[in-house]
Amino acid sequence: MDLAQAFRLTGKVAVVTGAGSGIGRAVAGVLAAAGARVVAADLDAESAEATTAGVAKDGGTAVARQVDVADPAAVTALVDDTVSRFGHLDVLVNNAGIMIRRPLTEVPPDEFDRVLAVNLKSVLYGCQAAARVMRPGSSIVNTLSTIIDFATAGTGSYAATKKGGEALTRTFAVELGPRGIRVNGVAPGWTDTGITRQRHTDPSGGFRQSGFDELGHRMAAAAPLGRVAEPIDSAHAVLYLASEASRCVTGHVVRVNGGASMA
Ligand SMILES: NC(=O)c1ccc[n+]([C@@H]2O[C@H](COP(=O)([O-])OP(=O)(O)OC[C@H]3O[C@@H](n4cnc5c(N)ncnc54)[C@H](O)[C@@H]3O)[C@@H](O)[C@H]2O)c1
Repeated sequence: MDLAQAFRLTGKVAVVTGAGSGIGRAVAGVLAAAGARVVAADLDAESAEATTAGVAKDGGTAVARQVDVADPAAVTALVDDTVSRFGHLDVLVNNAGIMIRRPLTEVPPDEFDRVLAVNLKSVLYGCQAAARVMRPGSSIVNTLSTIIDFATAGTGSYAATKKGGEALTRTFAVELGPRGIRVNGVAPGWTDTGITRQRHTDPSGGFRQSGFDELGHRMAAAAPLGRVAEPIDSAHAVLYLASEASRCVTGHVVRVNGGASMA
């Protein structure tokens, strides 16, 4: 296999959820730069449009799509409309996610249900919808988290969804492997995005930069490589898993965390 060709996505169609911000925006950009036509889907339509504008500026092809990944009918429509528009779906990146920090002893049922629906059920719905239309050689990548390796106070509902996402990834890999469809995960470590900034943002919108920077330094110090990840680092891992370069890899989780956890 030609080296550059192994990582090219020319002729491929990719759907990326949560593409309006952070890691999803970087993934959309990288997949488009590799030649894929990208559907950038997000709950926030405006941010998805901004992602596609950025892709177009860089010479790529992307269309924006509003979706709530917690809604199974909406996820099915996202996949079906993509196939109607572009003829096929080759790559699905289930990336949209939220984190609501609260001790598990205080998590109310409706909040737990929402985190579960956005972070975990969405992976089930996305993989099911994609499995119905994907051809051999297709790839699904689920954005998990380094939290699958740790327990930290206040992140229990989020951790439950990401650990569950890992289980779905592995089981779908087993079930879809015989059809030539690969299913893998990317587990980012602490990354400067909307999710990590939210913890340091006051209800009034004020951002506590020094607290944010201090946490970033602590996270970097805890990793063997002495650094935290940037969205592009996870995007490059997604590109590997989406492309032919990883044609013999399925059911795997790539940890993009400077070595903060290993498995
Ligand atoms: N930033 C980190 O440190 C980190 C670490 C590990 C894993 N992750 C995971 O990376 C993924 C991307 O998050 P991020 O860090 O880029 O944060 P982000 O907040 O910048 O991006 C998340 C995006 O998902 C979208 N979204 C939220 N709910 C949605 C819904 N119901 N339907 C569709 N879109 C929805 C948001 O509008 C936003 O654009 C998430 O799954 C997150 O759990 C992030």
